[in-house]
Amino acid sequence: MRFRRKLQLDLYRAESLFWENWLGIRTRTTRLPYERARDTEHKIYTPTLYRTIFRTLRGLPLKESDVFVDLGCGKGRVVCCAAYLGAAQVIGVEYIQELCDIAVGNAEQMRHRKSPIMIKHGEVQDFDFSHGTVFFMNNSFGPGAVRTVLSRIEAGLRQNPREIRIAYVTPAYGWAMKKNPWLERYGFWKHLDVAMLWRSKPGL
Ligand SMILES: C[S@@+](CC[C@H](N)C(=O)[O-])C[C@H]1O[C@@H](n2cnc3c(N)ncnc32)[C@H](O)[C@@H]1O
Repeated sequence: MRFRRKLQLDLYRAESLFWENWLGIRTRTTRLPYERARDTEHKIYTPTLYRTIFRTLRGLPLKESDVFVDLGCGKGRVVCCAAYLGAAQVIGVEYIQELCDIAVGNAEQMRHRKSPIMIKHGEVQDFDFSHGTVFFMNNSFGPGAVRTVLSRIEAGLRQNPREIRIAYVTPAYGWAMKKNPWLERYGFWKHLDVAMLWRSKPGL
């Protein structure tokens, strides 16, 4: 069993190295002081596994017309993957300045980029939710922030009616999604990570 687990970890490490080299980016975790969580509402930087990202983006599916937003983008791994697959615009939001700077560097130097990338420094609660069409979250913040983000997305939909989709990976506060009657779940899968896909119901 321990041997199987080690083999699995070696495989994920090799996959991660492959994608980092292919995309020409550096997003793996290093425990630096600024990577400590500020409080329970702000989760620490932990990048999503590449296989989880690609499975989620393809499952959405991410379209060329989408405006994709990674809420809590860290060093920009997810935004670089979305820009590699292709969308109209890719945006990352991150409250730690040092992580933003690394994400900007990764966005600028990445290879095989098909989409423009914009990294915004700030709290996700303050983001302008009136234009995005796909929102990605990987257990980036606590329940208070999840509730605020959902109500801001709903307000953005009323301001600018459109279909939006939300990919929630490691959905620790999945119950908060269920409390929003304007959302419906249309996808769920579980492998090493759990991911849920939600979309807005028509006619909000
Ligand atoms: C679990 S990591 C996910 C990183 C990246 N999205 C990925 O999946 O590879 C969570 C990130 O969200 C950031 N974060 C946490 N709370 C935030 C908030 N309220 N506003 C903006 N960023 C936040 C953290 O600093 C961290 O970089």
